[in-house]
Amino acid sequence: MAKKLWGGRFTSGTDPLMWEFNQCLSYDKALYAVDVAGSKAYALALSKTTPPILTAHELSEIHRGLDQVQREWESGAFEIKQDDEDIHTANERRLSEIIGKDIGGKLHTGRSRNDQVATDMRLWLGQEVQRDIEWLQGVIGILTVKAEEWIDHIAAGFTHLQRAQPIRFSHFLLAHAHSFAGDLDRFRDLLPRVSTLPLGSGALAGNPFCVDRELLRSELGFNSIGGNSMQSVADRDFVAEYLFACSLLMVHISRLAEDLIIYSSSEFGWVVCGDAYSTGSSIMPQKKNPDALELLRGKSGRTVGQLTGFLTTLKGLPATYNKDLQESQEPMFDAAETVGKSLRILQGVVSTLKVFPENMKKSLTPDMLATDLAEYLVRRGIPFRETHHISGSCIRLSEESGVPLSQLTLDQFKSVSPHFGDDVHSVFDFETSVERRDAKGGTSRRAVLEQVESLKNKLVAS
Ligand code: ARG
Repeated sequence: MAKKLWGGRFTSGTDPLMWEFNQCLSYDKALYAVDVAGSKAYALALSKTTPPILTAHELSEIHRGLDQVQREWESGAFEIKQDDEDIHTANERRLSEIIGKDIGGKLHTGRSRNDQVATDMRLWLGQEVQRDIEWLQGVIGILTVKAEEWIDHIAAGFTHLQRAQPIRFSHFLLAHAHSFAGDLDRFRDLLPRVSTLPLGSGALAGNPFCVDRELLRSELGFNSIGGNSMQSVADRDFVAEYLFACSLLMVHISRLAEDLIIYSSSEFGWVVCGDAYSTGSSIMPQKKNPDALELLRGKSGRTVGQLTGFLTTLKGLPATYNKDLQESQEPMFDAAETVGKSLRILQGVVSTLKVFPENMKKSLTPDMLATDLAEYLVRRGIPFRETHHISGSCIRLSEESGVPLSQLTLDQFKSVSPHFGDDVHSVFDFETSVERRDAKGGTSRRAVLEQVESLKNKLVAS
């Protein structure tokens, strides 16, 4: 067996299952590029200590070797050896093979895998959050585009999944877009906290060679420097926060998916998913299933699971680094993959969604204007509590006589309340109803287009 990086004090080897249990190269190899970047910056800092740990020649050799390590990963030529435990040991082992142990062996001076892995994860996640932000903007963007395109379509709005009041279908889409805008805020807000530098904290107690941490910060593009070495090596709050932001985003995606699944059932027939996002049945030839939407709904469970699982791992860890922290990586990678794919799929689903406004119209029934009927009387000076009761009595009359609310005669209305006037039937117009909801945030055309504008502005604001 080749010598392990930390093998000096050990007399016997590792149990094979324990080796497998302990290794994380199978997934942390995703960090190869940020690990190389962190090492290059650290080598530079080592060349600037007093006295310098690395000569100019040694620095350039380490940079040359690390560049080759990176190229090997990129081209698929990097050969993983049996004793490579994680990305840090693998990269350092390969560096020493390329440039020789005499120089390669100096790179880890004053550094620990504890500050190294935390640095790598933060660098990786910072880039990932940027991508998430772009994909999220894509989803909000397509929802605003469709909201403009479908502004004329009026459909039933629901509470308790019961027909409640007419709304513009665009208003429904923008309701979801507003939730995603909250996610956008959360992801943007996360960035400065992810971008705090652990490197230069050593194993836990700090760097004994007084490396210039400001140099490390600016070389690696971090916003700030971790203020306490013990906290810096043990802190994975940035992962927990990311998992929460991903979970809530996935919950929002799931709720939109659920609505669209309901609306795409034959019972509704309001929307149909494009072929690119649907599948068929192996037995029922007529079936076209909204699998993309069901997977979007289903995958939210796994991200919420990663969050609760990881919080449970963190709870009760003593100061400072403990190997349990290695368990922060897989949830982070998995949530990132789930969110990244889900956002792109969702954008595709919305951009290819077909809508059937005639079927939306069929969902509109006069009883959905009972609130408008009460409001009609409010405009004639009657207190709302009373008008609510009067309108309720009209509904009862309509049900008992089997006549739709809108077709009750003026006399029938007047039999319920003398306050009804000749113009009572003007209430029964769905367009008028939605246009009345013109206060900011409402479902009138103007209020919906105002939402589109403000969401678009949010996309450009950084
Ligand atoms: N692969 C390890 C992790 O992800 C790196 C840190 C190892 N540190 C240690 N003291 N064994 O946490």
